[in-house]
Amino acid sequence: MSANIIDGREFALKLRARVAKQVTELKADHGLMPGLAVVLAGDDPASQVYVRNKNVATREAGMKSEEIRLADDVSQADVLEIVERLNADPSIHGILVQLPLPSQVDEAAIIDAIDPAKDVDGFHVINTGRQAVGLDAMVPCTPTGCIMMLKDRLGDLSGLNAVVVGRSNIVGKPMASLLLGENCTVTIAHSRTKDLPAICRSADILVAAVGRPEMIKGDWVKPGATVIDVGVNRIALDTGKTRLVGDVCFSEAVEVAGAITPVPGGVGPMTIACLLANTVTAACRIAGVPEPEIK
Ligand code: GUN
Repeated sequence: MSANIIDGREFALKLRARVAKQVTELKADHGLMPGLAVVLAGDDPASQVYVRNKNVATREAGMKSEEIRLADDVSQADVLEIVERLNADPSIHGILVQLPLPSQVDEAAIIDAIDPAKDVDGFHVINTGRQAVGLDAMVPCTPTGCIMMLKDRLGDLSGLNAVVVGRSNIVGKPMASLLLGENCTVTIAHSRTKDLPAICRSADILVAAVGRPEMIKGDWVKPGATVIDVGVNRIALDTGKTRLVGDVCFSEAVEVAGAITPVPGGVGPMTIACLLANTVTAACRIAGVPEPEIK
């Protein structure tokens, strides 16, 4: 039997339409125009595509969008200066510094310099800490999008076994923390995990965020499980062309899972939609205006 395909594009379009309506209302009722600044250093092709898509989506939602492009050899001091300027700019409510940064720039120092109130990525330790203890926080976009799709599909997640493969600060760790917040029993698996296939087979919810093309095979998936594939890997084909694949071997897993996100068209579009929603949340909190219900 073939799994239900979770359509992240359609889900994201609906969320973006809701955000656009909220922006219209914020402008009309409070004279508030949410603003997002995205900083991109270097010319990594994948990052350029992400940043362009974020810029377009921000404008389409009716928000102010500022894009700052920096050379690959930019100094840490220059990036810090830009972050400080954006921290002080009242028309900017969200700051996103695209990762990875060039190697001469200390990512942790840059994230630490972002005003936590404007940290729409939810990467600042103030936000990761607040989220972990259940306080209001800016929450990372990709895990938020995954939780929305999971709740839409499964309803209450309480008591389900969730396995997160990958322990990055951007996805794996915050994903595990959010699943714990939904009362799942959470396992974080990683490159040193023993018998990874067996751990994966215990999952009612399997989240793959390792960055290894098609690593998770069909027989690692519990029949009926919900599979969320966060991986975006470009692989070369024999024809000389390239193709995007996830961390899950889709053609195998789709025969076993109950539901699965495709790549592309699954998690990716939701990340951008959640970024827009986070920017609205940040703008409302900064301006002291009631937050619209986004989730
Ligand atoms: N690089 C890949 N994903 C992300 C993300 O969600 N935020 C930022 N800032 N950089 C990224």
